[in-house]
Amino acid sequence: MGFIVAVDGPAGSGKGTVTELVGQKENLVYIDTGAMYRCVTLYMLRNQINIEDMEKVKESLEKIKIELKVEQGKQNVYLNNEDVSSEIRTEKVNKMVSPVSKIPMVREKLTQEQRKMSERQDIIMEGRDIGTVVFPNADVKIYLDATPEERARRRLNQNRQKGMMDETYEQILESVKNRDYIDSHREVAPLKQAEDAIYIDSSNMTVEEVVSKIIQIIQEKKKQ
Ligand code: DC
Repeated sequence: MGFIVAVDGPAGSGKGTVTELVGQKENLVYIDTGAMYRCVTLYMLRNQINIEDMEKVKESLEKIKIELKVEQGKQNVYLNNEDVSSEIRTEKVNKMVSPVSKIPMVREKLTQEQRKMSERQDIIMEGRDIGTVVFPNADVKIYLDATPEERARRRLNQNRQKGMMDETYEQILESVKNRDYIDSHREVAPLKQAEDAIYIDSSNMTVEEVVSKIIQIIQEKKKQ
């Protein structure tokens, strides 16, 4: 098994941006597990699978192949050989991803795949349950947090940059809180800080500050 850095935290904590940058600087393969849950969700939506029907869910999982590929310095996500990097970020996927991530069978399949990815390479993996369930023995565990208000502000800014003006700050704040609630109250692998994870509150930190803090933690660990 390679060197493993686990980064967990709620949506909008800056995990994605920070984890990708740390990966590039420290030569660790970056893996976005949220993208994998989003792929499964997209498949269920496209094929109109009733997610209460476990037989159908099982059949679907057997047909789903997910690949994460770095192309021209950017991570792209492939669902059965089709690039779905943009489609997995749409509002319809945002709405369905938490219920799909609650299904134990879905979690089992993705957890297995995530463990396989660490077999022959050094990785930095981000998600909700990486330090608690997927890699309880990770070399470094980080829990990255920020207040719901700050996370909603960041989402609003991102949306504006993309020209998306339809949601107000209040609506975004509501959906951030709603997703936090579902993700941290589900029965299987809820979002929570591992006991031995290092807690970082990014509310008043720049991306560069968070990146250098995590790099410092990784380098300390490698010296031991
Ligand atoms: O990181 P993200 O917002 O793209 O994740 C999308 C959803 O996937 C999130 O609402 C919860 C779920 N998820 C999960 O349950 N476990 C993970 N390891 C990663 C994401």
